[in-house]
Amino acid sequence: MVRPHPVILPYGTAAIAEAATLIRGGGIVAVPTETVYGLAADATNAQAVARIYAAKGRPSFNPLIVHVADLAAAERIAVFDAEARALAAAFWPGPLTLVLPVREDSGIASLVTAGLVTIAIRVPRHRAMQGLIAASGRPLAAPSANVSGGISPTTAAHVARSLGGNVPLIIDDGATEAGLESTIVAGRTVLRPGPITAEALLAHLPGEGRGPIGTSDVTEHDLHPDCPPIGPRPSPGGSAITAPGQLESHYAPSKALRLHATEANSGEWLIGFGDVAGDVTLSASGNLLEAAAKLFDLLHAADANESPKIAVAPIPFDGIGEAINDRLRRASHR
Ligand code: TXA
Ligand code: MG
Repeated sequence: MVRPHPVILPYGTAAIAEAATLIRGGGIVAVPTETVYGLAADATNAQAVARIYAAKGRPSFNPLIVHVADLAAAERIAVFDAEARALAAAFWPGPLTLVLPVREDSGIASLVTAGLVTIAIRVPRHRAMQGLIAASGRPLAAPSANVSGGISPTTAAHVARSLGGNVPLIIDDGATEAGLESTIVAGRTVLRPGPITAEALLAHLPGEGRGPIGTSDVTEHDLHPDCPPIGPRPSPGGSAITAPGQLESHYAPSKALRLHATEANSGEWLIGFGDVAGDVTLSASGNLLEAAAKLFDLLHAADANESPKIAVAPIPFDGIGEAINDRLRRASHR
């Protein structure tokens, strides 16, 4: 049967079963996680993974995160050391992605890692993503379910607007909890700040005095032929690993976006925070968790409304504020 695309099914046994059938057949499905909605495919099936890249229009060398049920499943795919195991024990299931050496017998399609010797892996907490992993019996590769470079989706409606007919099925389980993509860690370097802060990571790492967690001031090491790589800068830990997908221009609305705005200039729709009221606010009380959860939704709204420009109030850099500022900075690059 040819159906109008995309079909949006509310989370439940029937939706998970239909999605699992699609996944086992090599198809793609949009599914919520606790961070953002992901576009999932069987990570062991290269053709299925290729469909993710095609649907997103993503540069094919940008590697994907693999989602598995638990640490045991992760250890069948990646090589863990004591520190990685400590972080996994503390934060999985949850919004933490670990970049680790990929096992030779992992069975993961090399398109997932874009040929790297490392793999990004996480155990999600969300019932829909966990349900789909269980029902399909596959490790699931899943980037955020938006067109490459666009704003990440925190609702099923965002996915439908961004990917349209490119995705056959969206499982709808409401707005996501964290609202920002997972924190990505390689060794002691944060490649992408996220819901789990550097302080929280540090508190769970064994071995005092081995130096702090460093945030990689990631240069955008994009491997897409149209964007020649800018060499990765060494991180504070001395390693040069980067998240290749951390493009400078990312999460970008189609309109100009001005940061650190305390009032709206002409033509601007002001997204407020705390004392800066704005046309709408990320959090009137200045709560950073609330702001993180609302960020992409308000960027989608700003993109869709009639005002020609967007401005955003200053956001403090404490805790998850670092990740919010990271996404806003990228959204302001066009
Ligand atoms: O919260 C999340 O992480 C969401 C949900 C769906 O799980 N996923 C997500 O995936 O944000 P994506 O593809 O939008 O971002 C994955 C990031 C990219 O910046 C990519 O370059 C990086 O992870 N990455 C993947 N594999 C890597 C590797 N082996 N080494 C370094 N960075 C890697
Ligand atoms: Mg993304």
